[in-house]
Amino acid sequence: MMSLAWPLFRITEQAALAAWPQTGCGDKNKIDGLAVTAMRQALNEIAIRGRIVIGEGEIDCAPMLWIGEEVGNGSGTEVDIAVDPIEGTRMVAMGQSNALAVMAFAPRGSLLHAPDMYMKKLVVNGQAKGVINLALPLTENLRNVAEALGKPLDRLRMVTLDKPRLQPAIAEATQLGVKVFALPDGDVAASVLACLQDNPYDLMYTIGGAPEGVISACAVKALGGDMQAELIDFCQAKGDSAENRPIAAQERQRCAEMGVEVNRVYALDELVGGHDILFSATGVTGGDLVNGIQQVANGVRTQTLLIGGADRTCNIIDSLHSW
Ligand code: FBP
Repeated sequence: MMSLAWPLFRITEQAALAAWPQTGCGDKNKIDGLAVTAMRQALNEIAIRGRIVIGEGEIDCAPMLWIGEEVGNGSGTEVDIAVDPIEGTRMVAMGQSNALAVMAFAPRGSLLHAPDMYMKKLVVNGQAKGVINLALPLTENLRNVAEALGKPLDRLRMVTLDKPRLQPAIAEATQLGVKVFALPDGDVAASVLACLQDNPYDLMYTIGGAPEGVISACAVKALGGDMQAELIDFCQAKGDSAENRPIAAQERQRCAEMGVEVNRVYALDELVGGHDILFSATGVTGGDLVNGIQQVANGVRTQTLLIGGADRTCNIIDSLHSW
């Protein structure tokens, strides 16, 4: 897998470069479409027999690299691919920070097949490995993580998303004294940040997209962190109203077809098997994880975080692209 590190990081660069000129254009689908086209073209030029296992687009009908799509030039290693062409299309559309182009490669058969629905996720770094249990209430997890890290609850830093569905969790954590950082969007970056050395957060807890959850799990695994996740249906995420019930029923049907279970806690090894994983994220708009694309004389500069699970490497790659 390591020989694919260079091609992989070039793919997320290409996607970020394709989307970036549209920053602030207001059109999420246009941005996603540009990144998808760039990724598909770059993927089809490299020597892999690739299969998209984690794609996106089912919920919001965005253009997509669809689940099951075969990519690559048809020679070389068999690779399962988890992709979020733009993690944070809304951020690019609105000119906000923290948008990334993201892709992960893993050996065939090693990624959980998760449909595009909501997932509850809890991520910690290596120091708190083994102490999380999503079947327990958040409060117990916060206490257990704080104990593992040897800090009082009022020094524990939890990152989450600032969404209505997460307000009860935010209130629960702040009542314990935990410091909560609620980002507008982007739980992949938040998950990676919780696992990096000198991490700004001790744990990431959220209810966000399941595809983003499996992609995050690739990075968490490669960084030696820990994660648990639970697929939840649309009613559980958004409220049990009559209009949400058909969506929830469809999601449960889709899960059954894909051989995954709703309301079952998946451990990190079930989300991603093995350690031979590559993860790449290129900044589109500037953020805490990597810089966004910056204009320089005669070109642009990109920054990419490339993580290798097999040899536990973490590279930050600055590239200059001239035109
Ligand atoms: P996009 O790639 O679709 O823009 O996702 C951004 C994101 O914030 C994810 O990080 C998160 O998992 C998901 O959206 C949350 O979904 P919702 O926008 O429905 O709250």
